[in-house]
Amino acid sequence: MYPERELHKTFISSETPVLPDNFNVEAFMEGMNDFKEFMMMYSCAIREVRTKFEVLNDDFSVAYRRNPIEMIKSRVKSPASIAGKLNRKGLPITMDSVLNNLNDVAGIRVICSFIDDIYMIADMFTSQDDITVIEVKDYIKNPKPNGYRSYHMIIEVPVFFSNRKKNMRVEVQLRTIAMDFWASLEHKMKYKKDIKAKDILRLEAELAECAEIIASTDLKMQKINDELNGVS
Ligand code: GTP
Ligand code: MG
Repeated sequence: MYPERELHKTFISSETPVLPDNFNVEAFMEGMNDFKEFMMMYSCAIREVRTKFEVLNDDFSVAYRRNPIEMIKSRVKSPASIAGKLNRKGLPITMDSVLNNLNDVAGIRVICSFIDDIYMIADMFTSQDDITVIEVKDYIKNPKPNGYRSYHMIIEVPVFFSNRKKNMRVEVQLRTIAMDFWASLEHKMKYKKDIKAKDILRLEAELAECAEIIASTDLKMQKINDELNGVS
C-alpha cells in the first residue's frame, strides 16, 4: 500500500542496503528531488499567507492599539499523511494527484481573541486582490455535531519562484483561543486508541458540553470587549 515505506525499510533495516533487482536508483533520486521541490513550494505558500496575516495584525495594532491575532500556527502535511489520505480516497499517489486533489497540504491556523476579529481578519484577507477563495466552511455559524467550531477557507495564492509563478492552495483555519483549546483536546481523544468503549460516549458528551460553554463564553467576552470599547 505504501511502496515508499517498504523502500524506506530496505534503506534503514540493514547496514548495507539491499535494493530490489529492478530498483531504478536514478528514477528514485529524481523522484526525491521532485518531492523536495514540491514540499518547498507548499512551505513558500505558507510563508506568503503567514506574512499577509502578520501585516494585517501589525497594521491593526498601530491603528487601534490592539492585536486581533494572538498566534499563527502552520504546517506542511507529512508525506505519510499525504499518501494515507490519497490512499483512503482511492486516488493515485503521485505529485499531480496531490496538486489536483488535496487542498490541505499547506495549512495555516490563525488564532484570534474574539469572534468578531475572525470575520474581520477573514474579510480583510480575502479582499486582497491576489487571493482567490476556493471554498469557505463556517463551522462557527454551523458547528459540527461534536461541537467543533472554526472558520475554514481554502484559498489560492500566487507564489513567484525563480522561473515560474504557481497558484498554490492553502487551507486557512481561523478560531478563537477557546475554540483552539477545545479542538486540541478533541483531537487528542480522536487519536487515542486505548479508550474503553463505555468511556468514549461519556467523553464525547462531556466535550460537546464544553464546546457549548466555550461558545457562550466567547460571546460573553465579545460583549464585554465591545462595551469596554464603547460599542453597543
Ligand atoms: P478532511 O478530509 O479531514 O481535511 O476534512 P474536510 O476536507 O471535509 O475539511 P474540514 O474543513 O471539515 O476539516 C479540515 C480540518 O479541520 C481537519 O483536518 C482538522 O484540522 C479540522 N477539523 C475538522 N473537523 C474537526 C473536528 O471535529 N475536530 C477537530 N479537532 N478538528 C477538526
Ligand atoms: Mg484536512
